Amino acid sequence: MSAFPVDPGLLEPGGSRQLRGPEEQRRFGASLATALPPAAVLFLEGELGAGKTTLTAGLIGALGFVEAVTSPTYALIHAYPTPAGRALHVDAYRVRDVQELYELDLEDLIAGSRLSVIEWGERLYDDYPDAPILRLEHLDGEEDVRRVTRLR
Ligand SMILES: Nc1ncnc2c1ncn2[C@@H]1O[C@H](COP(=O)(O)OP(=O)(O)OP(=O)(O)O)[C@@H](O)[C@H]1O
Ligand SMILES: [Mg+2]
Repeated sequence: MSAFPVDPGLLEPGGSRQLRGPEEQRRFGASLATALPPAAVLFLEGELGAGKTTLTAGLIGALGFVEAVTSPTYALIHAYPTPAGRALHVDAYRVRDVQELYELDLEDLIAGSRLSVIEWGERLYDDYPDAPILRLEHLDGEEDVRRVTRLR
């Protein structure tokens, strides 16, 4: 059985769709909440401005967290207490050595969280083989659209 039951929000592996505007980006993120079981990891890929934080804000908002969700670039990890449990938002962009993440006891933090969204987490893909990977992209010449593709 798949660790991630089919949900209209979470695309099939290989599937993609277009999201028009930040509100649709948020709503797509929100729709993932029911598809991600407790302690799930979700990996996000995507260049600057691709909509990673917007999607994450929608997802964490769907768990009942009503305050602002911001990029954890400098903090490395943001932990949001939600009514559904702790949500982690990890940005590994500045991490030079994956050992730095292990030393933060990331594994235990993830295990004790409702869900963990990890940006720039390629080095952890093998550690969490069941975790979906979403790639977010701009579309040429279309300012107000992003494409989301589920790579795994
Ligand atoms: N589907 C979308 N269509 C159009 N604009 C969007 C969409 N999703 C997000 N945006 C807008 O794009 C901008 C960048 O979004 P966001 O901050 O979520 O990107 P990011 O991937 O987190 O960027 P960074 O790498 O800088 O942290 C914001 O102004 C946001 O409102
Ligand atoms: Mg961001």
